[in-house]
Amino acid sequence: MCHLDDNDKKRDKNLIVGFDKSDDAGVYKLDEETALVQTVDFFTPVVDDPYLYGQIAAANSLSDVYAMGGKPLTALNIACYSCSITPQILAEILNGGANKIKEAGAVLAGGHTVTDKEVKYGLSVTGLIDPKKVVTNSGAKVGDLLILTKPLGTGIITTSFKFDLISEKELEEATKVMVTLNKLASEEMQKIGVNACTDITGFGLIGHSYEMAKGSNVAIEFDSSKIMIMDKVIELIKKDSVPGGAYSNKQFFEKWVSFNSSIEEAEKIALFDPQTSGGLLISVPEQKALKLLKNINEKSEIEAVIVGKVVEATSDNNLISVI
Ligand code: CO
Ligand code: CO
Ligand code: CO
Repeated sequence: MCHLDDNDKKRDKNLIVGFDKSDDAGVYKLDEETALVQTVDFFTPVVDDPYLYGQIAAANSLSDVYAMGGKPLTALNIACYSCSITPQILAEILNGGANKIKEAGAVLAGGHTVTDKEVKYGLSVTGLIDPKKVVTNSGAKVGDLLILTKPLGTGIITTSFKFDLISEKELEEATKVMVTLNKLASEEMQKIGVNACTDITGFGLIGHSYEMAKGSNVAIEFDSSKIMIMDKVIELIKKDSVPGGAYSNKQFFEKWVSFNSSIEEAEKIALFDPQTSGGLLISVPEQKALKLLKNINEKSEIEAVIVGKVVEATSDNNLISVI
């Protein structure tokens, strides 16, 4: 993200979430009851099937609105492609996206295509939210419990598929995780009221948790035995089938993390794995946590789990501990 100077940040008081925070989406207040939530995200294919890729990219783009507790309203397609793909393939990608926009209850309002060597697709999404109910990643409170709504490992799995280390069948679990909208968890967290939320994407579980901890002036303690990691992921890490992003995340974020000595190297890597269309990490007051977990798991096909808690920050260097 580029940086604006302080005057730019403060130019409009209705920009209630913007450049000053490392949040998932921008939020602009229209009146006392209504604010716009705006986001954009697009990327190169993570799977071979164009329809699934379209679904994944759209679910990922919609996720930043869900992470703020917003309701998606309109979406615009952003597609980059060249004559190396047929019009049918492009149509399938866009159909996949349209399918997820519909599932989100939003409408496709248009889009734009650009010629580019490499295919890229995603959405710019505009959502609505009550400005008093905006859930940022900087409101976590000591004593909160942390709910994670999807298992980790999509970066490792999709990388391994590219190198033919796993079968189409083994890719399926990750695909199911990536096409699943964060809609349900977002709606349930808004109903019950939570302190903070972020979605887990490119910085991995640790990177996004670090942003939450730092922004909230707290520390986060994960229980490694509770963190869900998809089948085969640890095995694939041991074969060094790891996306470069996992290592760069580790290099950047590990100075703020302490790991219990019992945690093996492969497991650490999984926690830094960049996720595509990952789950929500929700910081919820302890007395509401079990109820929220139950409400999500009653309806969700993917099991959400309490993976840790929010504790006091005792030093700037140790914001995340994994025990
Ligand atoms: Co995000
Ligand atoms: Co994003
Ligand atoms: Co245009």
